[in-house]
Amino acid sequence: MISQNTIQQILSRIDIVEIVGNFVKLKKRGANYLGLCPFHNEKSPSFTVTPSKEIFKCFGCGQSGNAIKFIMEHEKYSYVEALRWLAQKYDVPIEETEVSPEVRQQQLMADSLYIINNFAREYFSNTLFNTEEGQNVGLSYFEERGFTQETIRKFQLGYSLNTWDAFTKTALAKGYNLDYLQKTGLVTVRNEQPGDNYRGRVIFPIHNQSGKVLGFGARILVKNDRAPKYVNSPENEIYVKNRVLYGTYFARHAIDKLNECLLVEGYTDVVSLHQAGIENVVASSGTSLTQHQLRLIKKYTNNLTILFDGDNAGVKAALRGLDMAIEEGLNVKLVLIPDKEDPDSYVQKIGADAFREFIANNKQDFVLFKLQISMQEAGNDSSRKSQLVNEIAETISKIDKTEDFTRQQDYIRQCSQLLKIDEQGLINLVNKFIRERFQKKEQQFNRENANNNAAAPAVDDDLSPEAIAAMEAMENGGEPAVNFFNPDEKQERELVKILLRFGDKPFSEEDQSTVADYIFHLPYDFESLADNEMVKRILREYKVMYDQDNLPDKKWFLYHSDQDVATLVVAIMEDKEAELSTAWKDKFEIDTVYGDNAYLKDTISTTNYLILRKIRKMIMENQQEMERSTVFEDQIKCIEMHKHLKVLENELTQGLGTVIFR
Ligand code: CTP
Ligand code: MN
Repeated sequence: MISQNTIQQILSRIDIVEIVGNFVKLKKRGANYLGLCPFHNEKSPSFTVTPSKEIFKCFGCGQSGNAIKFIMEHEKYSYVEALRWLAQKYDVPIEETEVSPEVRQQQLMADSLYIINNFAREYFSNTLFNTEEGQNVGLSYFEERGFTQETIRKFQLGYSLNTWDAFTKTALAKGYNLDYLQKTGLVTVRNEQPGDNYRGRVIFPIHNQSGKVLGFGARILVKNDRAPKYVNSPENEIYVKNRVLYGTYFARHAIDKLNECLLVEGYTDVVSLHQAGIENVVASSGTSLTQHQLRLIKKYTNNLTILFDGDNAGVKAALRGLDMAIEEGLNVKLVLIPDKEDPDSYVQKIGADAFREFIANNKQDFVLFKLQISMQEAGNDSSRKSQLVNEIAETISKIDKTEDFTRQQDYIRQCSQLLKIDEQGLINLVNKFIRERFQKKEQQFNRENANNNAAAPAVDDDLSPEAIAAMEAMENGGEPAVNFFNPDEKQERELVKILLRFGDKPFSEEDQSTVADYIFHLPYDFESLADNEMVKRILREYKVMYDQDNLPDKKWFLYHSDQDVATLVVAIMEDKEAELSTAWKDKFEIDTVYGDNAYLKDTISTTNYLILRKIRKMIMENQQEMERSTVFEDQIKCIEMHKHLKVLENELTQGLGTVIFR
């Protein structure tokens, strides 16, 4: 975990104009900055950055948020990854806290593997360009395949010498640990002799989304039936095959902009298409898609177009796995590359423009495609036909209705036409599958609850739809999802504002106390006095940091990992000044007497308001209890209580300040 101290240091340095300016060319317009939105394709700028509010917003596509959200969206980082990026940018040393020794060990291991991979990448690239064998064998191979120098450099391709241990020796001489070298798969030990794992092969580094090298794919150059065509890195702490798609680092912005991801099979397909200017492409590296990979794509786009090699016998098998993509809410299209070509050879054969056109004209809808193939297969066999009706109904049932109701209806209509069956019948069948799945989920839920072992929440660092909705509502000038029309909540909000703005300001000269001291030394726990859950959360977190003598400033919450909190704080900071004191005055017809420092007055009136609210609630509850009770002693107690509460209420409304009540 990154320490709070580090986070505060990072946040204090954030300058949203500078951060966004790293990725978007911004021009100043009045109080704002304007540029072309990096999240969608546009010709005239509708992307604005407002430094005073520390937010960005695109009026074209609606993307908006603070600087951290920008980094998260643009680089597809988690919150923590975004912080690390900023820390590096601002040279803030990262102080880690509370990590268990095992986690720490894992981090060290991961860091070491990255360092070794980076060294190897440079080594192989150097070998390719600067050795005789590299040039004669590796470089000429790439050239033969039509890869330009620029492409080779961009993808950081390399070559490994056809020797026993050239790389191993260099790496060991540099002091890299043999165990770690083996973990990366770059070195293998045979007969107690460490040696190179890739020999006489061209090297494709595999990058993660932020460009770090996770592993390598090494391709053989001559056809050899005894050796595998590719030798890939083994799985280790950083390379988990089914979570990686080759090319995401190079494709991410194009996918974002074009709102479509092309999926191919091979490394060379990705490289070739890029060279042709088709950059929204990633590779599954010859395996079927996993849920992790689908979610990775979904971070960028909902539109997935899969290009199948012409001679691909596995299309049918692949189709089965694609129901998962539908479940993930992806819009899946298929393209069959003709004539035993693959995307690499085909784009080189017909050229980029024709290739683009081919894709656009030959995109088939996955569901309809699947249906057509199954129909051909079933022919006139009626039992196979009914089986395929069931299959297609199950596929359609997996389209999330709430997300995509019309799409589901369209499919039902089109499929029932193709199958020549009654539309209502298909609807019923689809509904049956939905019901069944729902029941299964419910049973599972009950089982888990019965075991007193509720399912762990899905690990997902994306923002919740609620958070995004709140943020947008707020930025559109509306209120965030929380209801603040209630005057009581206004006061809760005000308390947060006072703490964030004036928490460290002097409250009393006499004992050198601060506003925060005052608030936290009142005999009331404001977290429990507040009704709003987010206000409670802010108060709780503030108190923890206060107790550690480490007062958070407004940035701390403005860039909170919980976007709901961040949104609320933005809204609070925008509240008009002084609205509080008048609210207080109107409601209780009193004025406070504390000097000319408005914040002192506001501090006292706000805390008093919240305490008063609590006392009035207690008075009401006490009265109810009195009415209910039938025992004389209890009634007396209630009456005593009532008197006591009334005194407190009186003191408060007189604006007498500190109240003691336990
Ligand atoms: N693959 C692999 N191991 C193999 C064969 C294939 O890991 N023995 C993976 C690689 O990621 C490869 C992808 O499957 O990129 C697709 O395989 P293929 O089409 O055979 O390779 P290409 O990359 O297209 O290579 P080339 O164009 O040189 O044939
Ligand atoms: Mn190929």
